[in-house]
Amino acid sequence: MTAGPNTGRNTAMAITTTAPFDVQTVRADFPILRELVHGKPLVYLDSANTSQKPAAVLRAMDDYYQHFNANIHRATHLLSERATQAYEGTRAKAARFINAPDAKTIVLTTGTTDGINLVAQSYGRTMLKAGDEVLLSWLEHHSNIVPWQMLCEQTGAVLRVAPIDDRGEIELDAYQAMLSPRTKIVAVGHVSNALGTINPVREMIAAAHAVGAVVLIDGAQAVPHLVVDVQALGCDCYVFSSHKMFGPTGTGILYGKRELLEAMPPYRGGGDMIASVTFEKTAYNVVPYKFEAGTPNIAGVVGLGAAIDYLGTIDRAAALRHEDDVLAYATARVREIHGTRIVGEAREKTGVLSFVIDGVHPHDVGTILDREGVAVRTGQHCAQPVMDRYGIAATIRVSLAIYNTHADIDALVASLARVREVFG
Ligand SMILES: Cc1ncc(COP(=O)(O)O)c(C=O)c1O
Repeated sequence: MTAGPNTGRNTAMAITTTAPFDVQTVRADFPILRELVHGKPLVYLDSANTSQKPAAVLRAMDDYYQHFNANIHRATHLLSERATQAYEGTRAKAARFINAPDAKTIVLTTGTTDGINLVAQSYGRTMLKAGDEVLLSWLEHHSNIVPWQMLCEQTGAVLRVAPIDDRGEIELDAYQAMLSPRTKIVAVGHVSNALGTINPVREMIAAAHAVGAVVLIDGAQAVPHLVVDVQALGCDCYVFSSHKMFGPTGTGILYGKRELLEAMPPYRGGGDMIASVTFEKTAYNVVPYKFEAGTPNIAGVVGLGAAIDYLGTIDRAAALRHEDDVLAYATARVREIHGTRIVGEAREKTGVLSFVIDGVHPHDVGTILDREGVAVRTGQHCAQPVMDRYGIAATIRVSLAIYNTHADIDALVASLARVREVFG
């Protein structure tokens, strides 16, 4: 199994348009980008952590609370009907957003972490036994490691980890060699939050299916950049968070193949996930409602629907080309700075530039940048194994979204010059 240079994007989108991308119009949609931080204009380079929100998303949530705040699925009154329509509307929009075959394959969750825990505890806990294997990659976010570790402790299954090379790409031959009939679950990220690597997930899914494994893809860092088609990918489950794709915190999506969701037992018990309850026996609701116990984050789900609508107004191909251009510019400018070393130089990347500066702790860099109004993340980015792989404790991570510009990178580079002044 070999990685072609474009393998990561081949399931994601057919880039056909050549239209220019009007980043200034996009920036005007995000009120927070007009904020001052320490008296300086905000330069937001931390979107992999959480993205900023366009006014349309804020308005949609406000509108819900001002005009149709009510609980869903339960009452007969008009407000509840409107709230239910908006909530279920997001489910339908999410299905279209990732080309899921129908809205019933979409479970509304609180985020990527919630979706992974749901699959681990519902599917994994029921299906795995001692000696079975769960295969991850070395690139994973802690959210796509710890739930599987917990599952392995509970079932006696074994956690295996496909290595990455110095560029930060999964070693596909090693991955392939680790797959066997013992592999019951493969869980890998589509895009690495620490390094920005785009993994060749379509090929990885096909290889996993050849040994009968179920595949979950962590799409938290993919959906803000790539157009995802879960049917083209062929994955069994795909999870992501609203807050990284211009929606609010506390909501997210788990896509699951219908037959898989049907076979999975509920994860949490409570209201709304039932068909009938007696003390002797409870009958569960149908898919996907049997996974949605209790009152959900209705305003958040309404906001997620607005974020999907917002992305629908964007020329995604042009946006991706724009982001690629800003990432290339950032990479070149940071590389020019004396003493910097880029961590993660995969051939296919999106949205993330991780680097270290000789002799300066990343946290000190982050603090100095903050004083200049430049927001980056420093640390191990919830991906400690990645840092261990490179023998470092932390990196400075610049992460981009559709609203970033060359001017943002110029401000970053000017602020990094301040770091050099302070630390020599
Ligand atoms: C690749 C990846 N997976 C999972 C997560 C966890 O997402 P959340 O905290 O929204 O559940 C993140 C968040 O940074 C991530 O980048």
